[in-house]
Amino acid sequence: MSVTPSSAETVEIPAVVDGQGREAARPGGLEALAVSAWFGDHKVLQQVSLRMPAGEVTALIGPSGCGKSTFLRILNRMHELVPSATLSGEVLLDGEDVYAPGRRLTDARRRIGMVFQKPNPFPAMSIYDNVTAGLKLTGVRTGRGERDLLVEECLTKAGLWKEVRDRLRQPGGALSGGQQQRLCIARSLAVRPQVLLMDEPCSALDPTSTRRIEETIRELADEVTIVIVTHNMQQAQRVSDRCAFFLAAQGTPGGIVEHGPTGAMFDAPQDQRTADYVNGRFG
Ligand SMILES: Nc1ncnc2c1ncn2[C@@H]1O[C@H](COP(=O)(O)OP(=O)(O)OP(=O)(O)O)[C@@H](O)[C@H]1O
Ligand SMILES: [Mg+2]
Repeated sequence: MSVTPSSAETVEIPAVVDGQGREAARPGGLEALAVSAWFGDHKVLQQVSLRMPAGEVTALIGPSGCGKSTFLRILNRMHELVPSATLSGEVLLDGEDVYAPGRRLTDARRRIGMVFQKPNPFPAMSIYDNVTAGLKLTGVRTGRGERDLLVEECLTKAGLWKEVRDRLRQPGGALSGGQQQRLCIARSLAVRPQVLLMDEPCSALDPTSTRRIEETIRELADEVTIVIVTHNMQQAQRVSDRCAFFLAAQGTPGGIVEHGPTGAMFDAPQDQRTADYVNGRFG
């Protein structure tokens, strides 16, 4: 299947409701089946299949340029924003193809959120409004009281509430880099995604902020499935349940060499290339 950009506007609100009558977060299982990707004529991914189980943290590792970010962007339909980009294969969220005709683009992006390498809060917007920004964009309507609760809940989950509770009206841009990244995580959580994709979320942060985000990732895993790209092997070991090792041999598209439980990938890799990579012998 080839995909062209679509401009769907509205979004479905998940039917799951918690004890207080609010929408409850529920992690979604994600599965890529034979995903290939191109930029123009340049094929960058070849037949990648990977199961990312609900409620687990999956780390994507591998050298620069092997297609990790491309794969991540395919999972929530951001790849198709690039004009020359095409893909084939399927991405299933709880068994349903996110690329199925008739499935709304905005629905896929709301259910499958993304946090980028460089924190990207709206700098002039208040901390409070940053958290709720996604609700407006996806057309979810909420009352003031409900929004207050949501802001506290999401900032708490992102590990930022105690640091910002007394200055919610200050601009997001006034926070430190690590705090801005946690604000972006809070913003992603506000639309109650089932999956959170994170592309090197700590690479611009100091060690303390990095550890704080890693704790947040572990705390979130129960309610949102996480797929994280990282170049930091210690980080992959600390945060992930499963790992997939991507590699693109010279002049060929990227693919997965090996995947499995994180412990096994690091302690007893099946493939020599995995062993070399996780032990820092290349890449
Ligand atoms: N917008 C684009 N247009 C054309 N080619 C692209 C584009 N984005 C990525 N590519 C190419 O696709 C391939 C995979 O890139 P990608 O960014 O997915 O790799 P990566 O594994 O995330 O690398 P890194 O670890 O450096 O972030 C590379 O050959 C890259 O040059
Ligand atoms: Mg990348």
